[in-house]
Amino acid sequence: MIRIENIYKTFNPGTINEKHALNGADLTLEDGEFVTVIGGNGAGKSTMLNAIAGVWPVDQGRIYIDDVDVTGLCEFRRAGYIGRVFQDPMTGTAADMEIEENLALAARRGKGRGLGWGVSRKDRDFFRSKLAELDLGLEDRMTAKVGLLSGGQRQALTLLMATIVKPRILLLDEHTAALDPKTAAKVLEATERVISENRLTTFMVTHNMRDAIAHGNRLIMMHEGRIILNIAGQDKKRLTVEALLHKFEEMSGSEFASDKAILA
Ligand SMILES: Nc1ncnc2c1ncn2[C@@H]1O[C@H](COP(=O)(O)OP(=O)(O)OP(=O)(O)O)[C@@H](O)[C@H]1O
Ligand SMILES: [Mg+2]
Repeated sequence: MIRIENIYKTFNPGTINEKHALNGADLTLEDGEFVTVIGGNGAGKSTMLNAIAGVWPVDQGRIYIDDVDVTGLCEFRRAGYIGRVFQDPMTGTAADMEIEENLALAARRGKGRGLGWGVSRKDRDFFRSKLAELDLGLEDRMTAKVGLLSGGQRQALTLLMATIVKPRILLLDEHTAALDPKTAAKVLEATERVISENRLTTFMVTHNMRDAIAHGNRLIMMHEGRIILNIAGQDKKRLTVEALLHKFEEMSGSEFASDKAILA
C-alpha cells in the first residue's frame, strides 16, 4: 500500500525560476494497484515519482509505503522498496557489463554484502528463464555486453532488473516513449506481464492516452502539481480518449497542452 498525503515541492524557491511542481498531491493505492499517470508537459508527473523515490525531500506532506512513513528517508534508504525504469534506454543498465552480470547485480538488491560476485549455475538458469519470458531473444545472449543491445532490449532488461527482486513499488516514467512503435508495444506487453505475474503496485507515466486507458486498474491525471482526476474500476474501463480530453479541459479550464500527447 502507498499513501501520498498533501505533498508540495517548489524548485528554486524565492528566485526568478521558482516553480511549484507539486501543489498538494494526494493519493492512496492499495497493494497491487497499477495506476497510469497522464497530464501535460510540466504537470508534475515525474516530480511525483521522484518524491516517492526520495530523490530530494518534499517541502510538505507525508509519504507512506506499507504504513511505514518514508518521508524522511533518503533515496538510498528507500531503494529497497522501489524499482524504476526511465525513458532513456541508456540509464538503468551498465553498458560495459554482460547481461547476466547486470542481472546478478540487480538480484543482490536488499541482500546486503558477502554473497560474492560470481554468477552461479542456478542464478544463470533463473536469469535465462526470466529473459526468455521477455520474448526478445536475450536468453541466448547472456554473456553479451549490454551496450550492444537495442534500445528496446535494454528497456526490457532494465524492467527485469527493476523487478527481479520484487519491489514494493514499480515506477515507470515514459519507459517506452523513446522506442519505435513496434518495440514500444513489445516492451509494454512485457511490462504488463511482469506487473500482473508479481502483482506489483505500479505507477506508469505515459503520454499515450490509449495506453493509459488500456493498462492498469486506475488512471490519474495531473495538472499544475495536483491530481485532478482519479478513475478506477468500471469507470476506468469505460473511458475513451475523447472523454479524457473533455475531462481535462473541464477540470483545468485549458486545452490539453501536451506536444507529445498521442491522440490519434
Ligand atoms: N530538479 C528540478 N529543478 C527545477 N525545476 C524542476 C526540477 N524538476 C522538475 N522541475 C520543474 O517542475 C515542473 C514539473 O516537472 P515534471 O518533470 O514533474 O513534469 P512532467 O509532468 O513529468 O512533464 P513531462 O511530460 O514533460 O515529462 C516543470 O516546470 C519542471 O521544469
Ligand atoms: Mg516527466
